[in-house]
Amino acid sequence: MTEYANQTQFSAELENLHTEIVGRSYIPGWNRAGNPPMWATPRLSFEAALWRYVEAKQLLTQAGELVSPELAERRNLILQNPVPGNRYPTLRTQVIAYQMIMPGERARTHRHAPHAGRLILDSDPGTYTVVDGLKVPMRTGDVVLTPGWTWHGHGHDGAEPAYWIDFLDIPLVQLLDPMFFEPYPDGFQEPVAESRDTPLLFPYARVSDALDELDPARSGPLGRAIQLGDEHSPIPTTGLVMHRLDRHTAGQTFRTTANYEYCVVEGAGTSWVNGTRFDWNRGDVIAVPGWSEQSHHSESGATLLAVSDEPVQRFCGYFRSSVDIERGDGRHLGDRPAVLPPAGGGALVSHPGPDSSR
Ligand SMILES: [Fe+2]
Repeated sequence: MTEYANQTQFSAELENLHTEIVGRSYIPGWNRAGNPPMWATPRLSFEAALWRYVEAKQLLTQAGELVSPELAERRNLILQNPVPGNRYPTLRTQVIAYQMIMPGERARTHRHAPHAGRLILDSDPGTYTVVDGLKVPMRTGDVVLTPGWTWHGHGHDGAEPAYWIDFLDIPLVQLLDPMFFEPYPDGFQEPVAESRDTPLLFPYARVSDALDELDPARSGPLGRAIQLGDEHSPIPTTGLVMHRLDRHTAGQTFRTTANYEYCVVEGAGTSWVNGTRFDWNRGDVIAVPGWSEQSHHSESGATLLAVSDEPVQRFCGYFRSSVDIERGDGRHLGDRPAVLPPAGGGALVSHPGPDSSR
């Protein structure tokens, strides 16, 4: 039988072996104290945080006088998670931004691998996006999708500045490395068609009506909820669920592994995240990292858009919720919200693109 060295004290011979092992780009699996590859439960590597629309609006208004669309690809404010050392994301896989466009402006066309979308906070008639040649007028409360690698630019022919919340899976793409970005060669892609009847748009009136029709008995932990789009979403990494918080109704306390950014579409209310209270109003964004204990309620009634990486976690088989665990299962079964299918009328316009049009 082999005589092993004392397990708490490596011999000089073993230390020499470690040095040789490390020098050849290995880690000795028996000697990685302080750097375990797994842990018992999720670690919170980002902080719960709140950003206020009134503040962002004021800052963007100031920027509107100093920053032109020619100077910046987009005039936006990125919601950088305040956790020390973070340089970019709002949460692990997602980034959120407030964006403003002035009357008469155009934000030039580009395309990128990351999937994106936006929740329109304030827009008067005349605000629009152009996605692969399709002009889509954008109204307050709308959710508009920009699938990865579609050309997209924005314009505004109205009278008042327009504001919206962008959400993108850029940090996920950075993690996986398949990043591509390309500016449109001619600056702005002129539309070849116009429609609001497209799978890329969830008009707020349609979403709100669908929420009203839901059976309150089927409510989730926040209230009635509806998922925007089915399993064939053109932005498959990003979960979009609209929640309606009924007046005076206390939300359930729950946790899931998914990362959530709650964007306040209507109303005001309070969220508790890991024991911290966040009071929010219309247009605010509350970031809730995965596995946070959370609850949400509103005295006056409210509607929240939850943007999340839940589809990615479900696809990978990683998703867990406290509801499942209490039921003794603990694995990715959780109650799913009702589904609002995409509009069936308009498919993406097949645009020839800048290369083949020359
Ligand atoms: Fe973009």
